[in-house]
Amino acid sequence: MTDNAAALRGNWNYPTAMRFGPGRIAELPDACKAAGMGRPLLVTDPGLANLQMVKDAIARNEAAGIPTGLFAEVKGNPIGKNVEDGLEVYRAGGHDGVIAFGGGSALDAAKAVALMAGQTRPIWDFEDVGDNWMRVDPDGVAPVIAVPTTAGTGSEVGRASVITNEATHVKKIIFHPKMLPVIVISDPELTVGLPPHVTAATGMDALAHCLEAYCAPGYHPMADGIAVEGMRLVKEWLPVAVKDGKNVAARAHMMAAASMGATAFQKGLGAIHALSHPVGAVYDTHHGLTNAVFMPYVLAFNRKAIEPKMTRLAAWLGLPDPSYQSVMDWVLALRKDLGIPHTLKDLGVGNDRLDELSAMAADDPSAGGNPVPIGAPELKQMFVASLEGRL
Ligand SMILES: [Fe+2]
Repeated sequence: MTDNAAALRGNWNYPTAMRFGPGRIAELPDACKAAGMGRPLLVTDPGLANLQMVKDAIARNEAAGIPTGLFAEVKGNPIGKNVEDGLEVYRAGGHDGVIAFGGGSALDAAKAVALMAGQTRPIWDFEDVGDNWMRVDPDGVAPVIAVPTTAGTGSEVGRASVITNEATHVKKIIFHPKMLPVIVISDPELTVGLPPHVTAATGMDALAHCLEAYCAPGYHPMADGIAVEGMRLVKEWLPVAVKDGKNVAARAHMMAAASMGATAFQKGLGAIHALSHPVGAVYDTHHGLTNAVFMPYVLAFNRKAIEPKMTRLAAWLGLPDPSYQSVMDWVLALRKDLGIPHTLKDLGVGNDRLDELSAMAADDPSAGGNPVPIGAPELKQMFVASLEGRL
């Protein structure tokens, strides 16, 4: 850490009001009232829409005199059309707020519907580049209540959505400060039904957020503190949550870690996400799983820039002989323990589009947060290492 006072500056944003704990989904009607919603639209994915938890949430609202619509046509890695379709239902139903209910894809699509509720420009005009967000009419952004049902994305405490532009197959980050949900209901009981492989993959996304935020350059000691404790929670509780999905304490700690990761990454992300976004957009792979595959290769590439930080992290995690190597060994052991594949090939990614993917990764906004400056050649080097399993 520098002692140059001029470098000690940054933009810090804390998240939002969170109602955290088992059973708190029962407070949804009260949260709607607190957020000023009299006729919300619940946005989720088709799988969740068939589950009792969504039916219960809508029934509870109806019983409290809050008519609640349902839009469930959100696919994994949501596309612009999902947002447009949701927007149509929102406007036709005369809704006045959005309940974002689900995993990262549902939360992101729902937040985008809320952003677009009263806009006239196309969504791609609000891509997180420069001050594009200033183009948004803030009065046209509907309030959001977020109810996460996975522990990974942390989108419930984020001010952005990742939406794939289906015309170009590029994942775009859509940003506006008012996309931050006004209330979050984090009820770990909603995650007990997640199968082990989804628990593992989403949990690794939370870890990737904490790890990349912690490694990102820039002065944000609050984010750093949140990130290292988030990683400790992942270390202690992700294996438990994967092996014993009904363990509500493990689920709760992972839910906290996920929100912490997304709070921390306001500081920045890095090459893991820069590489993962184009792979997800082109091959439709699971985001958290893709991050988990890339993680050790990116650590290896960044080694020189992050060694002192890794030593401090290792000490906080309680790893033996704290060092860069002990963090690397832990990451590799965790991946193996959770059944995460070791190479990109195992995800079905070939080596025929490497130049294209590397160029897309270089354009991804996450690339700017990597502790070592990277462009397409460096990202290609990491792609090749990840395909071949070379650390
Ligand atoms: Fe992520």
